[in-house]
Amino acid sequence: MTDIRKKHLKIKKKNSTIFLTCIVLIIISIIYGINIINNKQLTNKENKLQKKDNTPTIKEEDTSFEKASKLSYYRKENDTRYRAYRKLNPSLTTEQIVTEVNIGLDNPYYTNDIPVEKLNSQYILVNKYNYLSKDYIPADLQEISSQYSAKNMLYLVSYAKDAFEEMAKAAKQENLTVLAMSTYRSYDYQEQLYNNYVKQDGKENADTYSARPGYSEHQTGLAVDVCNGKESYTNFEVTQEFIWMQENAYKFGFILRFPKDKVRETGYSYESWHYRYVGKEIAEFIHNHNITYEEYYVQNIQK
Ligand code: DAL
Ligand code: ZN
Repeated sequence: MTDIRKKHLKIKKKNSTIFLTCIVLIIISIIYGINIINNKQLTNKENKLQKKDNTPTIKEEDTSFEKASKLSYYRKENDTRYRAYRKLNPSLTTEQIVTEVNIGLDNPYYTNDIPVEKLNSQYILVNKYNYLSKDYIPADLQEISSQYSAKNMLYLVSYAKDAFEEMAKAAKQENLTVLAMSTYRSYDYQEQLYNNYVKQDGKENADTYSARPGYSEHQTGLAVDVCNGKESYTNFEVTQEFIWMQENAYKFGFILRFPKDKVRETGYSYESWHYRYVGKEIAEFIHNHNITYEEYYVQNIQK
C-alpha cells in the first residue's frame, strides 16, 4: 500500500469514527430528550394525583379549629366538645360538628337540658334539650275559628292563630280542608298524654313520638297538628292537603317540624301532621335550605 492510500484510509477511518460518535451522541440526546419529556409528564401526573391525595380528609382538616372558630355560631365554651365529637364522627364537616354540638347532639336526649330561652316569642325552641317550666302558659292564647278546627277550644298564640286561619282559608279556596286538631297543650295535659303512651307502648317507644311534659312544643302555643277531616291525622301524608302544605305552609310562616329525614336532629319520628309557626322569613329559609328548626336556631338565633 502506498503512503497516500494509507493516509486516505486513516482519514476515512477517522471520519467514520467522528460520524459514528455524532450518531451515538444524537441518539443519546434524543433518548435523553424523550426521558425529560416523559419525566415532565409523569411529574405533572404525580402533581395532579398528589393534589387529589392532598385534599384534606375531614379528620385532618382544620386541626386547630381555626375554620370552626370563624363560624358566627362557634361557641368557645363548646370547644372541647367539638373536638370529642369530631373524633367520633370523622365524616362530618366542621359546620356540621359545630351545629350538632350546639344543638346538644353529643349528649343523650334529656341530659344537659336547659330551661327554654326566648319565652313568649315566635323564636322559642323546645326539644329534648330545652324545656319549659310546669307553670309556663304562653301569653295571648286565642281560640281558632270553628271553620278551621276539628273540635272546640283549640288555642294558639294570637299571631300564630291568625296565620293558621289565613293558611286554612287559602287551602279552602283551592277546595282543600286543613283543620287544626291539636294545638296548645298545658304541661299537665301533656303529662297525661305521655303517661298513657308509656303505658301503651313502653317508655322507649313513647319517647320516639311523644314529648315528655315540659318538652313539648305544643306547650308553646305555636304548634298545630292538622288533619283533612276525612283521613286520620296519622295518614295526613297521603292526602292532597299534605301536598298543598308542603308547597304552601312556609308562605304563612309554618314549617313541618319533624321531617322524615331529620329524626336525629329533631329527636322525634316523622310527623306529617305537626306544623310549627316560626314566622314567614324563617319558614321560607328553612323550607329553601331543607334544615330543621334546631339547625336554624343554633346557627342564627342562639347567642
Ligand atoms: N308529638 C310531639 C313530639 C309532641 O308530643 O309534642
Ligand atoms: Zn304535634
